Formats: sequence, C-alpha cells, structure tokens
Amino acid sequence: MLIKRPPDIPTSEITDERLFWRRRDFLGAMAGALALHLVPRLPQQGEKLTSFEDITTYNNFYEFGTDKKDPSRHAHTLRPRPWSVRVEGEIKKPKVYDVDEVIRRYPAQERVYRLRCVEAWSMVIPWLGFPLASLLRDVEPTSNAKFVAFTTLHDPEQMPGQKRGVLPWPYVEGLRLDEAMHPLTLLVHGLYGKPLPNQNGAPLRLVVPWKYGFKSIKSIVRIRLVREQPPTTWSMSAPNEYGFYSNVNPDVDHPRWSQKRERRIGELRRRLTLPFNGYADQVASLYTGMDLRRTF
Ligand code: MTE
Repeated sequence: MLIKRPPDIPTSEITDERLFWRRRDFLGAMAGALALHLVPRLPQQGEKLTSFEDITTYNNFYEFGTDKKDPSRHAHTLRPRPWSVRVEGEIKKPKVYDVDEVIRRYPAQERVYRLRCVEAWSMVIPWLGFPLASLLRDVEPTSNAKFVAFTTLHDPEQMPGQKRGVLPWPYVEGLRLDEAMHPLTLLVHGLYGKPLPNQNGAPLRLVVPWKYGFKSIKSIVRIRLVREQPPTTWSMSAPNEYGFYSNVNPDVDHPRWSQKRERRIGELRRRLTLPFNGYADQVASLYTGMDLRRTF
C-alpha cells in the first residue's frame, strides 16, 4: 500500500500529539491573555488530535475513487503547482491568483477544528490557513454579491476518478456570503504544520467546521461571488439527502441513517453529535428565523 506523506516528517513529530496539544494549550492561553478575537477556541476538554496517519489515509475525495483509502493511494497524480485560483463575479477587483501569492499574502494561522462527515464519523484536525473573509474583503464584493460558489479542478488526467460518472464533475460547493465571511471559515493550505497532502485537497481547500464535511471543497480553482444560491454537487446528485446548508444537526436524520451520534476516528465508543458540530455559540445566530429542519 502506498501511503503518500511528505517525506520530511519524522515519525516522532507526527505521532506525539500530546506534545502538540501542550504546545497548543500554551499558545492558546497566551493568545487568550492578549484577547485576540481571531484566535480559535480549542476543541472541548479531553479531545485528542486525530493522528496524521488517520487524517491522511481515511479520506473522501471522489476525484480519486470512492473508497476511503483511494485518495491516499491515487492522489499522487494531482499536480498542486503551478496552480491558479480565479476570483470573479460580483466583485470590484476580479483577479487570477497564483496559489503561492495567496499563501504569502495572508498570514497562516493554526486552527484545531472538528470535522464531522455526513457519514457519521469525525476527526480533530490542526489546520493551517487563513480566513476566507480576508481574501473576499480584498476583492471588494459588490452589493449584488449574496453567495459564494467554489469549483474544484476538472482534469481527468490528474483526477482519474473524473473519468467515472459517480458525481457530476467538477465538484462544486457554495456558501451564503455571511457564512463565507464568518471568521471560522478558512481557506486551508496545510495541516500538522506542513503543506496540505494531495489527498486532503492540495493546494487550497475550504474548511467550514460547523457544516458536514462535504461543504469543505478541496483543490479549489475558482471562487465566484454570485447573486443566486449556486448549485452544489451533493444536493444535485441526491437532493432529498443533501441540502444547501448542511449544518451539522443531530435532530435531522439523514434519510438512510441517524445523525445523533458519530464515531471519532481512532476511538471505539461513539459520541453524541453536537448541534453545529459544537460551534453553535459562534454561528447559530447566522440562522435566526430559519427552520433548519426544512432548510437542511
Ligand atoms: N472535495 C472534492 N473536490 N471532492 C470530494 O469528494 N469530499 C468531501 C470534502 N471535500 C470531497 C471534497 C467530503 S464528503 C468530506 S467528509 C471532506 O472533503 C473530507 O476531507 P478530508 O479527506 O480532508 O478529511
């Protein structure tokens, strides 16, 4: 089995997550003392980081196959450099960025977020990235911009899974503008302090921690600000199962399984799923007045 991993990570560095935690606790406490509002909240007490091994070998990235092991086996065909990201639509300053220009321009922050997949498993991942809001502010959305549409690379040579019709290609996702501007919403280019492995969505992906994992689109080539709610891959392929909002909601079952509990990868016992994946205090107000059973 071929497991893709940056060759320069010593095993000692990637396995000792307790040490990583202590460092994070210290930095978190320092940041708290300085009252930096952008510094994230750490996951709840007692939550351990998922291992680098699990984060990079148990993936959903259908462009490389539908088995959890397929992305780590096959994503070596993706070429994450050179890479352009086109930002366009209802903005005053459309621009085609080189991905390294973006990474240089916006200081990288480390954010430990839970990722909860719609398939009822979850992980705790130390991402490296920056708020999507920083980039969006720089391109100056017009008053017509109401939603943000994201598109993954479409290149069946680099992404052989696109030769099969399991999903409509390219993979697309979307957020309402206020969700996109929320400080928890990140553009991510690394994890565990290293560049993002291909199977996790190199070179640039979205991470929206209060929504089911499929909203966190990988290997982005286009960000388009639009007036109307854009189509999204999973709601196009199974509209009765996947809605546009897809906020983590234990009270709304998937038509084929319960969403009340989840299995944390690396653990045996299942835990209760939290509303908005545990980020309710920070994001619930975005949905005031919406019926989240109907608008799932
Ligand atoms: N993005 C693209 N382009 N293609 C995909 O198949 N899968 C989604 C999301 N982003 C997917 C994608 C799903 S279902 C999940 S749960 C997360 O990526 C998984 O991210 P991870 O493999 O880094 O944990």
